[in-house]
This record gives sequence, C-alpha cells and structure tokens, in this order.
Amino acid sequence: MFDKGRSKEDVFRDLNVFHNMDMKYSSGRILGSMCTKPDPVGLEAYKMFIETNLGDPGLFKGTALMEQEVINSLGNLLHLKNPCGHIVTGGTEANIMAMCVAKYLYEEENEGTPELILPKSAHFSFKKVLSMLSVKPVYVPLNNEYKIDVTKLPDLITDNTMAMVGIAGTTELGLVDDILEISKIAKSYGVYLHVDAALGGFIIPFLNYKNNNQLNFDFKCKGVSSITIDPHKMGLAPVPSGGIIFRKKKYLEKLSIKTPYLTKDKQTTIVGTRTGASTAATWTLLNYHGMEGYKKIVEKVINLTTYTYNKLNKNKHVTIIHKPELNIISFKVDNIDVDTLQKQLQAYGWIVSLAEYPHVIRLVLMPHIKKEHIDEFLVDLDIIIQKNR
Ligand SMILES: Cc1ncc(COP(=O)(O)O)c(C=O)c1O
Repeated sequence: MFDKGRSKEDVFRDLNVFHNMDMKYSSGRILGSMCTKPDPVGLEAYKMFIETNLGDPGLFKGTALMEQEVINSLGNLLHLKNPCGHIVTGGTEANIMAMCVAKYLYEEENEGTPELILPKSAHFSFKKVLSMLSVKPVYVPLNNEYKIDVTKLPDLITDNTMAMVGIAGTTELGLVDDILEISKIAKSYGVYLHVDAALGGFIIPFLNYKNNNQLNFDFKCKGVSSITIDPHKMGLAPVPSGGIIFRKKKYLEKLSIKTPYLTKDKQTTIVGTRTGASTAATWTLLNYHGMEGYKKIVEKVINLTTYTYNKLNKNKHVTIIHKPELNIISFKVDNIDVDTLQKQLQAYGWIVSLAEYPHVIRLVLMPHIKKEHIDEFLVDLDIIIQKNR
C-alpha cells in the first residue's frame, strides 16, 4: 500500500494488466476446470446482492428467504421434501460440513477414533477433513470400473465407523458410484452416508428427467444422509456457490452455534460472514432456466462429450480409460507419457489436467467449450502425436 492513494485511472490500468494475465473461459482453451463462465443473468443478480451478509440474516431477510427457497429447490431436485442446508463457498466446505455433522453424531454414542470409509476416487477435500477432524481413513477398494467395490464395504464397517462417502461424479473420471447399493448397506448398518455430487448434482437429474433418472444417486436412496451439490460447477453460478443438503433438520442443527451479537441467535455454518450474492445468483438461475433450461444445458454438454469421445476413440494412438458417464473424458496416448503430453498440449495453448488414479489426461467438457474448440484441440493432439513418432 502507498502512503497516498493513486488515481482510479492509474489503479485500473494495473488492474487491466492483471486481468489480461488471466485465462478466459471464453477462449475455449480451459479443458480441465469444473468451473465455467458464469451465466450473465446470474451475474446480474450477484452484483445486485453484493453487499448482503448471510452471516447476519436478520439484516438481509429477503436474501435469507431466498436461501431457504434455493435449499428447497435443490432438495426437491434431489428428491427430498423437507431439506435443510446452506449455500456455501463450494464442494470443499460442503463436504467438511457434512463430515462435521457425521462426527458430532458419532461422538454422541462413541469414544474411539472415528473412521471414515471412502474411496481413493474421493476429492482431496476429504483429505482436509481427515486432518482437520482427526478422522482415520478406511479406503474401500475400487472395482475394475474405477467405482467403489460395494461388496467390500460391509467388512470395513466397525464400531468406530463415523460415515461412508460415495461419489456421484468423480473429480478425475466423472463416474457415478452405485449409490443405491451403498445406501442399502449404510441403512442396514446404521452408518451415516454422504454423497458428493458436487459435479453430478447439476447433471444427473437432467440427463433423462422425464423418464425417471437412470442413475439413482440422491435422497431417493433411503440411506443417504447428506449431499453436496455445487451451483458453481454445472449450475453456471458465479464462484463461490456450493451447496450442502441434509436429509434431517437435526443433522444441520449439530452445527448450531450461538451468535450473541448478531441479529439472529444462531448460525449453522462453518464460516461467519458469508455472501448472499451466491444465493441470489443461484436462486435467479434456478428460476430463469428451470428444469427445461438445465436439461438443454446438460444435453449440449453431454452431446459434445459424446462427440469428443467418438473422435478420440477412432484415433488408434489413443486409449480411453472409461466410457464417459457425465462430462469428463480421460485418456492416454501410446507414444507420449502423460506429463509430457500435458506440457506439449500447453505449448499449443490447451490447458488439460491430469488424473492421479489412473495417471491420465482428463478433459472436462464444461459449457464454455464449443465443438469448434474440440475440433481445433483434436487437430493439435494429432500433430503432437505425429511429431513424437
Ligand atoms: C466431486 C468433487 N467434490 C468436491 C469438490 C470441491 O469443490 P470446490 O473446489 O468447489 O471446493 C470438487 C471439485 O472439483 C469435486 O469434483
């Protein structure tokens, strides 16, 4: 900071320099992000509610009411009649909240070190949970489809099991665990089950919603206690917009803290001061697009994923790891190791990310990516493959 302020013009000149250093989603070159260009309608709402603070909801009664409506809509989307939850900063915070609840419930009846059963495919936010909450991980093996091997679950449940986690849209491969079967096991053993649908939550319900969803992943599965669903991924809301939905009010109430100096006497979030702008943007987008609108958005993304998959599949140098279930394609090529290929693609201006298990290239087909971007990408990929022969 300078002693004297600078002129606005001067400051904004520097701001533009920073801004120009950033990549833009509209370039179509960001192929590894689970976020996307926010819908301008949501952005308008975001700006309108920029000064709101849902940490002090008595001051912002309208925004607080909107949050209730958003939670009801998301709950209903996930087949739950009386949902509770919050709009939070993202999937990480949502997962941490769910795990806090599971731990508090566990501690009501148990004293041993709590154990969390989770797959290797779980997002790294659960690693944060393990260290923050001093929870012992119990890794359930994956089957040859890279999904939770459900047959292994019962043997892993002990008196110290605090919770199990299933994923509806894995970060690396975009695959959906067999939540229905996992839920049956959770219910029969009385174990808290959290489903991380940070990505899949805004995709799966729209895949085939008039003909019943072919993928059971939500509260229709009776053993599911909570679900993460992120508006700032496929919901097209601006960052930060995550969502956490609990089946029972008593679960959310486990997070309740007295807030003496504020307009309401308690909070059930991890953070205190929090923006209402994310809630306003999400409320707006849910109302503006409706089920039909989101169905079209998802359809486009899935069609482009299928198009890309078919093209890659025809390339004899490419091995695809799994037929995409959502909007992620993972692959490797026969003559270049994955890290080198990532760097070479970057030299051509393509930002792809890597999966760890298995170690492969990962493309996330978000709404900012168009067919022409994919066609250009495939040409460059071919050039790179040929150059390395
Ligand atoms: C399945 C899953 N859960 C949680 C997260 C964490 O979300 P965020 O980065 O919004 O905290 C991600 C992020 O990509 C994810 O893919």
